[in-house]
Amino acid sequence: MSTKGSATPIGIFDSGVGGLTILKSIRQELPQYDFIYLGDNARAPYGTRSFEVIYQYTLEAVEKLFSMGCHLVILACNTASAKALRTIQQNDLPKMAPDKRVLGVIRPTTENVHQFTKSKHVGILATQGTVKSESYVIEINKFSPDIRVTQEACPIWVPLVENNEYQTEGGKYFIKQHIDHLFKKDPLIDTLVLGCTHYPILIKELKEFVPSHVTILSQGEIVARQLKDYLSRHSDIELKCSKGGKVDYYTTEDPSAFEEKAGIFLEEKVRAKHLEL
Ligand code: DGL
Repeated sequence: MSTKGSATPIGIFDSGVGGLTILKSIRQELPQYDFIYLGDNARAPYGTRSFEVIYQYTLEAVEKLFSMGCHLVILACNTASAKALRTIQQNDLPKMAPDKRVLGVIRPTTENVHQFTKSKHVGILATQGTVKSESYVIEINKFSPDIRVTQEACPIWVPLVENNEYQTEGGKYFIKQHIDHLFKKDPLIDTLVLGCTHYPILIKELKEFVPSHVTILSQGEIVARQLKDYLSRHSDIELKCSKGGKVDYYTTEDPSAFEEKAGIFLEEKVRAKHLEL
């Protein structure tokens, strides 16, 4: 591994395994970098928790990744990006680690959504926490005030993914139910944002129930392209990112359970280590 000076891996954090969808796309776009993936599986899901709890858990994870050497951390979790990112960037980072950076997944998505919608009606599928934060509505309207944004919270989808129940009849019932709710609220939606990093795993099932003219946007590729652009514009941070193409996986839960779930997301075998937050 060619770690020049104090160059270290990029940290990728999610409440569980959902962030692996983001990691996968980032590695396709930026295969040369090293990564540390941290999933707080022991405390997932985050989506139904309060602002204070999500902020506290996310801050602990960021501190841990910094203590492991990371100079740049990506919150590969919409719920953490919605509820904790701004406070960490504005209040904690200046005191804790002014030279380090934390980025999220909502901004890259909301900056780009206007390229996909013709009807100017966009649907957001996300956790309760992300929906309640209104982050998508606020951010999309900042860049594209002419877009009508309609949200649907899907609290059961993360447990369906985490428990590998999404292909069952019961699982599909709940997938269809939320899609139907959303399109009932706004039938003119032509672009659907999967605003939770777990949801790309459901893509096959979603396509069964989403009208075929609707574009379904997964965030991975958008976030990966924006990260590449960010690194090209911030050479101070880029130089601190080690390049060896390696990933270390950590989970706050049982590593073997993580490895099994990660296999579904990454279609490859990974080894994980346990870590306490
Ligand atoms: N994957 C996370 C997200 O993108 C949330 C999952 C959870 O509820 O913990 O929002």
